[in-house]
Amino acid sequence: MSERPTALVTGASRGVGAAVARALAPTHDVILGGRDERALAALAADLPGARPWPVELTRVTAADVAGVERLDVLVHSAGMSRLGRIADQPADAWRQTMELNVIAVAELTRLLLPALRRAGGHVVCVNSGSGQRANPHWASYAASKFALRAFADALRLEEPELRVTTVYPGRTATDMQREVRAYEGGAFEPEKYLEPETVARALLAAVMAGPDAHLTELTVRPRGGPVN
Ligand SMILES: NC(=O)c1ccc[n+]([C@@H]2O[C@H](COP(=O)([O-])OP(=O)(O)OC[C@H]3O[C@@H](n4cnc5c(N)ncnc54)[C@H](OP(=O)(O)O)[C@@H]3O)[C@@H](O)[C@H]2O)c1
Repeated sequence: MSERPTALVTGASRGVGAAVARALAPTHDVILGGRDERALAALAADLPGARPWPVELTRVTAADVAGVERLDVLVHSAGMSRLGRIADQPADAWRQTMELNVIAVAELTRLLLPALRRAGGHVVCVNSGSGQRANPHWASYAASKFALRAFADALRLEEPELRVTTVYPGRTATDMQREVRAYEGGAFEPEKYLEPETVARALLAAVMAGPDAHLTELTVRPRGGPVN
């Protein structure tokens, strides 16, 4: 049996989650959550101790996490955004966003709580600047991230043996940001955004801060851009 701590990362097939998995892999055995089995297998082949965990998070059940007896780190990175004015957003857009960004996070955490408690583990929620401020066209996404923040705050109080960190990144150069820029009608300019690896390093700082430290919230913005 491995002596190394175990981490489970959702959204590990690409973007921020993949960068977090890479950052954790030197010190943790990483369970790679996502839907794209080919991408998960390719990443797992690159990271010693990692294994793919193909999952549709909006339908996660106890059977999906059977065998995870002890979990040191749980990173919720999977997420989605459907931008649009409130006047144009059907209930379906709200439901899909809340299902993935909030309800799946709550359910996966609930299912893994026994394993997290056994390890005195750490739960990290990848939130967003939209979880701190709601802007026009971003209502359903911002509402989901405000809810995610509430989830993390309540979890921290209910489970004092765990550490719970919310990370609020600004714009990050991933597929999601590509879609955001397409909606906004602007160019995708990665040099103006955070690199996913930078978000991962910030997140890692919270995980590695030492057992006596509890970094509860971390705001990360692209340098030189708006800081609010
Ligand atoms: N990019 C930004 O500018 C930005 C800024 C602030 C915060 N964030 C937050 O950072 C997190 C990561 O975003 P990202 O930019 O890395 O996004 P991304 O590149 O679009 O990747 C999304 C990830 O979520 C997974 N996923 C989506 N729906 C899923 C489902 N139903 N079941 C299982 N997995 C699912 C995808 O897996 P598959 O590809 O395998 O389907 C993929 O790994 C999100 O929570 C996002 O809200 C992003």
